[in-house]
Amino acid sequence: SAIPSYSIASIPADGIGPEVINAGIAALQALADTLETFKLDFTHYDWSSETYKKTGRYIPDGGLEQLKKHDAILFGAVGAPDVPDHISLWGLRLAICQPLQQYANVRPTKVFRGTQSPLRNCATGDLDWVIIRENSEGEYAGQGGRSHQGRPWEIGTETAIFSRHGIERIMRFAFETAQQRPRKLLTVVTKSNAQRNGMVLWDEVAKAVSQEFPDVTVDKMLVDAMTTRMVLKPETLDTIVATNLHADILSDLAAALAGSIGIAPTSNLDPTRENPSMFEPIHGSAFDITGMGIANPVGTFWTAVEMLNWLGEKDAAVKLLDCVENVCEQGVLTRDLGGKATTKEVTEAVVAEIQKLK
Ligand code: NAI
Ligand code: MG
Repeated sequence: SAIPSYSIASIPADGIGPEVINAGIAALQALADTLETFKLDFTHYDWSSETYKKTGRYIPDGGLEQLKKHDAILFGAVGAPDVPDHISLWGLRLAICQPLQQYANVRPTKVFRGTQSPLRNCATGDLDWVIIRENSEGEYAGQGGRSHQGRPWEIGTETAIFSRHGIERIMRFAFETAQQRPRKLLTVVTKSNAQRNGMVLWDEVAKAVSQEFPDVTVDKMLVDAMTTRMVLKPETLDTIVATNLHADILSDLAAALAGSIGIAPTSNLDPTRENPSMFEPIHGSAFDITGMGIANPVGTFWTAVEMLNWLGEKDAAVKLLDCVENVCEQGVLTRDLGGKATTKEVTEAVVAEIQKLK
């Protein structure tokens, strides 16, 4: 009988993006070839800061419509030394996430077998979190303006937008995520002591939605106190929901506490499944190591795992993550994890593990 076939858009973009996406596709292809339970068909899009410098835009006319035809999007990283970061971020990444209504950004973090947390007393299993980031509004809604440019009395405003609709849908998604995990524990991050409008609405809606999930334990943390709890008591946390800005910051801290920013993935999901979702490693384009062949591909492998999960290939996802952890445990690690292996060596080791699944 026919096996499912998924159409994947790949957008490697800038810096180490193409290096890690190549690695991720090699692992995914090896997995599909070995398991023979699904097929993957990749379409490559060369949208990047190079395209922007040549044409003045990241996404060509009709580009978004093309993307919508795929089952999922695999994204590398965007950002170049000679393009301001707000241009690259809004030109490509947010230009995909926002119109495709990928309102839930999901960032799992854990300490892999064979890797180490910089925290002295944090073993494998002590840190196993999923951070849910509101991905469509909040502090990154793009509202605000500049007046009196270049003058000493110049002003800039950045208005955070919190809508009942936006909060409700992200809270419901966060409670559902917490409910599916063994501990059924959700921490709602806020700053309603200082920000007394949008953040108070955030708290109120969280409380209302919590009534629908009596089996999930909820607690509320101010974002500043949250940073200390993540460092001092990582084992007390499980699923975490936070605003666009708060979760952006907390998830980089989470990745560092798990050992390296090079291992963690991010999913930009449209939970309604009306549009394809987008999967990417959490890290950026890392100019400092671009072209050196030492970028850690593990973040992209885990990204591939998350993508397979979303596509419904749960068995393949579990197997791939296991292969990656086996390779970490064998000590085949890139420099950021304290090893000496190259991107290519880690990828070959993961592909070899995958081929053992046959
Ligand atoms: P970054 O994540 O690119 O790099 C931070 C540090 O982590 C660097 O020292 C880098 O070498 C290291 N690192 C990152 N990924 C690694 C990997 N896979 N293996 C080994 N080491 C790794 O963040 P940075 O330097 O703040 O930003 C560089 C550019 O990337 C900027 O233009 C920024 O706007 C962009 N960026 C893009 C993101 C995206 O596309 N989602 C996310 C974050 C940053
Ligand atoms: Mg970030």
